[in-house]
Parts: sequence; C-alpha cells; structure tokens
Amino acid sequence: MENVVIAEKLTKKFGEFIATNQISFAVKKGEIFGFLGANGAGKTTAMRMLCGLLTPSSGRASVAGFDVFTQAERIKERIGYMSQKFSLYEDLTIRENIRFYGAYMV
Ligand SMILES: Nc1ncnc2c1ncn2[C@@H]1O[C@H](COP(=O)(O)OP(=O)(O)OP(=O)(O)O)[C@@H](O)[C@H]1O
Ligand SMILES: [Mg+2]
Repeated sequence: MENVVIAEKLTKKFGEFIATNQISFAVKKGEIFGFLGANGAGKTTAMRMLCGLLTPSSGRASVAGFDVFTQAERIKERIGYMSQKFSLYEDLTIRENIRFYGAYMV
C-alpha cells in the first residue's frame, strides 16, 4: 500500500529551542496513526507542520504527495482536521462558524 504521509528527520526549532526533533515515519493509505507523548513532546508542532500550517526548520515531509515546504496550500485542500477541544461559537450557526474559520485560517 502506498505511503500517504512521509516524514524524514522532520524538525522544528523556535529560536534555539528544538520543539520537534528529527521525527521519521511513514503512514500508509487507510492506516490509523497516532502520536503519544508527554506534554510538550512536540506532537502539536508535528501536526501543524504536516497540515501545512507551520514551516519546518529541517528534514522532509509530504502529505498526499505534496511537500510541506513548497505545497502547503495543496495539502490543506486534501486534509480534514478535528480539534481536540470543542471550539465553535455556539451563537453562530454551523455555516457561520465554517465561514468564520475558513476566512482566517490561512
Ligand atoms: N510557537 C512557539 N514558540 C515557542 N515555543 C513553542 C511554540 N510552539 C510550541 N512551543 C514549544 O515546543 C514544545 C512542544 O510543544 P507542542 O505543543 O508541540 O507539544 P505537545 O506534544 O503537543 O504537548 P501537549 O501534550 O501539551 O499538547 C513545548 O515546549 C512548547 O512550549
Ligand atoms: Mg499538543
């Protein structure tokens, strides 16, 4: 089965601080894959890089065949994301919430 998510030594530094340190893995189509780690281990930082929301410092990664460094917008067109916490505005309709988030999550 083909690999749809590939990370090779993917790293993110914030200044001198290394938030995600050289992670490497591959996820096949249809496979369920998760990150386990202590608070601050770098899971969310890794997900942000794979979603095309944060440019990595070094390493390589691709999602659905698109490169996280150069094709972040193409990745966003292909992925879905469900947040850990309920974060919609209850006084907006579903459509208004989608419009609102869609307008500023660039
Ligand atoms: N924008 C940022 N600037 C500086 N440091 C950051 C930034 N984002 C994350 N960090 C730091 O990088 C480290 C990894 O954070 P991250 O949020 O990826 O961890 P996590 O594994 O998702 O943790 P948790 O289990 O608490 O959600 C933490 O020490 C965090 O403080
Ligand atoms: Mg997190």
